[in-house]
Amino acid sequence: MTISPPLRFGIIGLGNMGAAHADSLLARKIPRAELAAVCDVEAERMNRFAGGQVKAFSTAEALIKSRTCNAVLIATAHYEHTTLGIAALAAGLHVMVEKPISVHKADAERLIAAYEARPDKDQVFAAMFNQRTDPKYVKLKQLIDTGELGEIRRISWIITDWFRSEAYYASGGWRATWKGEGGGVLINQCPHQLDLMQWLFGLPVRVRAHVALGKWHQIEVEDQVTAYLEYANGASGVFITTTGEAPGTNRLEVAAERGRVVIEEGKIRWTRNTVPMSEYSRTTSERFGRPDTWQVEIPTNGNGGQHVEILQNFTNAVLDGKPLIAPAGEGIRSVELGNAMLLSGLTDKTVDLPLDGKAYEKLLKKLIADSKAEKKTGKTVSSDDFSKSHTR
Ligand SMILES: NC(=O)c1ccc[n+]([C@@H]2O[C@H](COP(=O)([O-])OP(=O)(O)OC[C@H]3O[C@@H](n4cnc5c(N)ncnc54)[C@H](O)[C@@H]3O)[C@@H](O)[C@H]2O)c1
Repeated sequence: MTISPPLRFGIIGLGNMGAAHADSLLARKIPRAELAAVCDVEAERMNRFAGGQVKAFSTAEALIKSRTCNAVLIATAHYEHTTLGIAALAAGLHVMVEKPISVHKADAERLIAAYEARPDKDQVFAAMFNQRTDPKYVKLKQLIDTGELGEIRRISWIITDWFRSEAYYASGGWRATWKGEGGGVLINQCPHQLDLMQWLFGLPVRVRAHVALGKWHQIEVEDQVTAYLEYANGASGVFITTTGEAPGTNRLEVAAERGRVVIEEGKIRWTRNTVPMSEYSRTTSERFGRPDTWQVEIPTNGNGGQHVEILQNFTNAVLDGKPLIAPAGEGIRSVELGNAMLLSGLTDKTVDLPLDGKAYEKLLKKLIADSKAEKKTGKTVSSDDFSKSHTR
């Protein structure tokens, strides 16, 4: 169905992220898009819309059926991404879902099946993987996809600058519980990096992880993970994350035939081998030699358009048929990778991919059934703190 601008958004969930998206739309940061409707189960979160142009709904179902909007943006707790996504797709709406698209692989498959069965083939279904707009990752993807960097041998991502306080975990009853959130650092903070891992390098074929539950916080889910990954071409990877370390590190290092790329502290640096390392190894007569290198300056400016760029891209996809930066269907891969790490850590076994989604869902249900966590909620994170923590 062709839509005449503006694209009318309905936002479901007006917490930290949903409110930030609402602010962007209200501030007209996304040309040809407007905020038409909002919904939150906590009525006071919609107070600021009372009596205005934006319609407020007390249930997501009412918003979806209301015909006030052409597109919904789902920014609720994670399990509802699946149920509300399915309902919105079945109602013929365009859908943008926050990360992760679902908590586990079987739910992601259900959500994607609803998209496959959508009533209108023009419906757009996207995911908020805003870090795909960061020019450093875009450049690295170009280096890989064009073959410039050569075959990859080793990947290492230390992403330990997701520090979170006890106050953060107390800011929502759903947070950091198996029942409410479905996991910890892998399901809340790391979907961005897990998505970039699969976007850049594809999925590994095997995962072995060590996972610590509530090691640094009073929570029942994982707040520390060290995973070893094996890829089909023989490359290896390490993924290290925690919410319990400050200041923490965010360093992605890729070793490939044509040298080493490091993304760290806002820069991308490529130490380029003048001769691919395998070729050098085969052909040199030097016993302790190594390929000569050049330092390659790769200019990048800032962090890209992030959330606003993804919203703009989604709007352009609906109105003009432009390709999506982050189609939601691709979101299953980061879910699968995170699930595999958790499954490996919790069962103390190596996990082969593709992951058995049903087996993982069974494990998660058992974790929920066995949960003894009593969640204390209290101080909320201010939106100022939230904006700072999401501007990198
Ligand atoms: N892309 C990013 O950079 C980014 C950053 C932070 C959070 N997120 C994601 O955004 C989502 C929300 O996170 P948050 O930090 O804003 O959480 P939050 O707890 O602050 O907000 C969630 C809101 O959803 C509401 N809600 C829950 N179920 C609902 C329902 N059925 N109908 C209507 N409202 C409902 C809650 O009342 C709450 O106001 C999560 O998926 C999270 O992973 C993304």
